[in-house]
Amino acid sequence: MQQETQKKLIFSGIQPTGVFTLGNYIGAVRNWGILQEEYDCMYCVVDLHALTVRQNPTEFRKACYRALALLLATGLDPQKNILYFQSHVPQHCELSWLLNCYTYMGELSRMTQFKDKSEKHADNINAGLFDYPVLMAADILLYNADLVPVGADQKQHIEITRDIAIRFNNLYGDTFTVPEAYIPKSGARIMSLSEPDQKMSKSDPNANATIYMLDEPDVIVRKLKRAVTDSDSGIVFDPEKKPGISNLMNILSSLTGKTVAQIQDECSSMGYGDFKLMVAEAIVEEFRPIQERFKALEKDKQFLAQVIKDGAARASYRALRTLSKVQKRIGLPPRER
Ligand code: TYM
Repeated sequence: MQQETQKKLIFSGIQPTGVFTLGNYIGAVRNWGILQEEYDCMYCVVDLHALTVRQNPTEFRKACYRALALLLATGLDPQKNILYFQSHVPQHCELSWLLNCYTYMGELSRMTQFKDKSEKHADNINAGLFDYPVLMAADILLYNADLVPVGADQKQHIEITRDIAIRFNNLYGDTFTVPEAYIPKSGARIMSLSEPDQKMSKSDPNANATIYMLDEPDVIVRKLKRAVTDSDSGIVFDPEKKPGISNLMNILSSLTGKTVAQIQDECSSMGYGDFKLMVAEAIVEEFRPIQERFKALEKDKQFLAQVIKDGAARASYRALRTLSKVQKRIGLPPRER
């Protein structure tokens, strides 16, 4: 069992639907690997959140394991981090119910992700979709996370988590750590390649809009070649007037560590075609070792099962401690364990 440390606690989650995108990678997952050296980290495959949209059971089960293998392939070390499936730690749901009673309908109605998803899935606006942020708050507060590394689209969810924590602490005394969002300076919002005013998304029906982490090199090159730019020329960073090319500059900046100003300088004489190839190559090189590791990991079912079992046990131990404290504070009758 991992020794508990005084290090700050990091918690984050990712939905196991489809294959992770370049947006997931740059906005979140890549940073998780960097943070594992300095913090006490817990990374959760949030399978329960993914059920807010209909899933095919057979495909979904596979996708959960694929998500885990991909996280490991990016370099997350199961010894250094706690990696697990959300559904294997039932305290997430238990705390979520309790927090529901401290969350207002009005607050949940204002969530932009709820509004977006209800539009996209108008035939299935289920209660889970509405309540999604409360389960997310439970994920984070269950472990008293200090920092939550996410892309910019999750900022509102972290804010409501903070509000719920503060409300609960005001009523019952200091119980939860009030978490902070940890959003990268560069790459917090990678945009669609086809509609650069929209976020790059796993569920985009247009496959050319999204780079997936398991795309073959030729697919990545083809998608980049087709990326929407503008009728102008010039590699100039201007997200308002030139959203397409600015998005590509942002991607390159995130992958190379160069600033967009440096890229603008270095690529000033390039045409869009050559620049797109340069970005494609940077993505291919970034994903090449991850894809190789993934192929080996995916087959090692025994190792994946062990990681998941250990992760759930270590997470449950911590989760139970917080949940018992919360139950006691609220006045629920004590349970012998
Ligand atoms: P999910 O699965 O949609 O995305 C996982 C992470 O990827 C980031 N991300 C992006 N970053 C930059 N550009 C993009 N185009 C892009 N698309 C996605 C997301 O911001 C996220 O960090 N609700 C969460 C999962 C979750 C969670 C949690 C996160 C559940 N419980 C507790 C943190 C803490 C979600 O749907 O992420």
